[in-house]
Amino acid sequence: MANVDKIGGNFKGKDIISLDQFSEKDIKILFSQVPKMRDIALKAMPSKILAGKIVVLLFYEPSSRTFGSFSTAIKQIGGQTVEILNPQQFSSVVKGETFEDTIRVFEAYSDAIILRHPETGSAQKAADIAKFVPIINAGDGIGEHPTQALADLYTIKEKFKRLNNLHVVFLGELAHYRTVNSLAKLLALYPGIKMSFVSPPQVGLNPNIRSYLKEKKVKIQELQDLDEVIRDADILSVSRVKKEFMPEDLYRKIQGKYRVDNNTLLKMKKESIIMHPLPRVGEILMEVDSDPRAVYLRTQIRNGTYVRMALLALVLGKT
Ligand code: CP
Repeated sequence: MANVDKIGGNFKGKDIISLDQFSEKDIKILFSQVPKMRDIALKAMPSKILAGKIVVLLFYEPSSRTFGSFSTAIKQIGGQTVEILNPQQFSSVVKGETFEDTIRVFEAYSDAIILRHPETGSAQKAADIAKFVPIINAGDGIGEHPTQALADLYTIKEKFKRLNNLHVVFLGELAHYRTVNSLAKLLALYPGIKMSFVSPPQVGLNPNIRSYLKEKKVKIQELQDLDEVIRDADILSVSRVKKEFMPEDLYRKIQGKYRVDNNTLLKMKKESIIMHPLPRVGEILMEVDSDPRAVYLRTQIRNGTYVRMALLALVLGKT
């Protein structure tokens, strides 16, 4: 459990570090704000929810979606951003400034810091350093990626109109996938959820998450053959092989082991969905993209912005 406050129905000023902080009730509160946020975005409605607020985006790791959607979300609801991409090259970090000092400096300029960092636990570390503004974890090493998981959960809820009694199949390289960790923790809150983890044996489920799920008495299975579960899957959540976290020889051995293609679609239920937090690197073929079950390039991305708008409004907004 991260050393941070539970949300407990009140998001105001809270660090958002881990899904351990969230209860079912908190998720209900968050999701209740999302339709309003979607309207603001889609109807270009002027919003002053974050008027006068400045949010720092401090990204030590590359990002397209998390960076882009947070930046969009803040502006959609009237806030402003200071955007520091690659501080290792474009900030005083290059001169030897410590992580501690960097957090203190950007804390002085802002109302919140959104942090992505390659080190697991870095968001918690930043939260311990920053005394006056909340830290929002935008992905810490192989730890967690709470806002991606919240957005993915919202997409599941929107599609199935429920969050219980679903079979979720996680496919691919799981050991280094922070989104899998976060989404599995979130899904564990709901009754009747079954999770199947399909991966090469060298990069299976993170042992901490396995223990967490077992403790919560979630029905899980770990296997290597997608065919054993694909026909029963409601949600197929696909992962990229995280090349940056492993030696080249292991990468070559496991890259391309699983490919979702038209043949996979034939085996899937008509009312199932295929998700991927992206980027994809060949694990879902482009021929799948136009299938209505493929949500990764459509609703999943858009919901990322709306859910982040809702979260920022609750943590920082004048509500
Ligand atoms: N889903 C996700 O975290 O993508 P980025 O790495 O592009 O932000």
